[in-house]
Amino acid sequence: MKESTNQLLKPITLKKGDSGNLEIGGCDLVELTEQYGTPLYVIDEATLRSVCADYKVAFSRYEKVNMMFASKSLSTLATSVILKQEGFGFDVVSAGEIYTVYKAGVDMKKVLFNGNNKSLEELTLALELGVGRISVDNFFELDLLNELAKSYKKTVDILLRVTPGIECHTHEYIQTGHLDSKFGFDLTQIDEAVELIINSYSNLKLHGLHAHIGSQIFETKVYHDEIEILIKEIARLDEKYGLKLDEINIGGGLGVKYTEKDCPPSTYEIADVIIDSLNESVKKYGIEPPALFIEPGRSIISTAGVTLYTIGSSKQVPHGKKYIAIDGGMADNPRPSMYQAQYSAEIANFKENDSLQTVTIAGRFCESGDILIKDIELPEPAEGDILCVYNTGAYNYSMASNYNRVQKSQMVLVNNSKSDIIISRETLEDLISHDVIPDRLK
Ligand code: LLP
Repeated sequence: MKESTNQLLKPITLKKGDSGNLEIGGCDLVELTEQYGTPLYVIDEATLRSVCADYKVAFSRYEKVNMMFASKSLSTLATSVILKQEGFGFDVVSAGEIYTVYKAGVDMKKVLFNGNNKSLEELTLALELGVGRISVDNFFELDLLNELAKSYKKTVDILLRVTPGIECHTHEYIQTGHLDSKFGFDLTQIDEAVELIINSYSNLKLHGLHAHIGSQIFETKVYHDEIEILIKEIARLDEKYGLKLDEINIGGGLGVKYTEKDCPPSTYEIADVIIDSLNESVKKYGIEPPALFIEPGRSIISTAGVTLYTIGSSKQVPHGKKYIAIDGGMADNPRPSMYQAQYSAEIANFKENDSLQTVTIAGRFCESGDILIKDIELPEPAEGDILCVYNTGAYNYSMASNYNRVQKSQMVLVNNSKSDIIISRETLEDLISHDVIPDRLK
């Protein structure tokens, strides 16, 4: 089976330049750090576009396919413009993500609004900007949205978010009759929701069912099972209510390669399982093939991103580990401390002495848990070296914080030996710009 870009550990343009330093997108990584400082998020445009091409080719044999990038993995104006150019729609979960794609000039009909507790203000913004689909998560929201739609004299196009009873961990999954999840309607609640829509909520137009079964998925059979459950439900609703639902949204989830141990399936393999399962299920349950929506996030943007750090202090614990400290950590990449996520890294600058040492990369934040990579082999890492951490495009910047009142890092886009800032570094003034001292304290 053809390899795809989500299966690579490093951006496709990564190479060692003539100087011995690493390059991405034709840009010398050490020069980038001299120009922009560290920590620095770098996004390789060629890798991002190559993943998009994989997805488009892989799904091309299903006619009615709609690819929606999950903005939660990375939401910036520039990356939204690239994904828009590549023909992607967007899955958004907040006013901020809606506003970002709107400002990036995205056709709002190609936007789907998800979330288990969307506020009235967020739903209002979605209606005003003409967001194409709202995936309704619960009974409270059905009522809220119908009232809002009525006040706008609009009919709102919706999906129902359901929990198909499949729970996915990275390498295994469980299937149960129902799932204890905060997201979506349990399968046993669908009929009640549908009856409310048919009988009482005349400002809502239901188009289909939506589910998402997990993230960093390596297993393909889960998609087969998910699709079968959704199609079976659609056929059942048709039979019971004469309801013709013609859309299924199966969420995101395809995994990426954070370390050499990880072997995610290719986009082509996943697409084959999804399309074959869909064709098989529509035949089995006797319905028309629905439009298919997928919402990948991580597998689109992760491999395109790396983070560059400068190595500072180091500490050899007597008879223990050697710690190497970098100038970033859990505030720019909370994944290791939140999920024990593992990452791979290399020294980006040329090293005379390349004898390997096992070290632990410690972040700069005031928490002992702020360890970015445990026990990694690097060539004698020393103060001033540049560390390049791979696969940080997804859920790094989007989950970054200002912990310890440290400014968020900037982000550059590299391509064809050019680099452009796409997120500028916060200043100290930015950090206090929303602070207010009450008069009585002055
Ligand atoms: N659609 C829905 C409804 C989702 O909830 C998600 C992710 C996606 C699509 C995109 O999934 P992806 O293709 O990126 O796996 N912060 C965690 C990941 C949380 C994912 C939440 N939902 C992490 O850093 O691993």
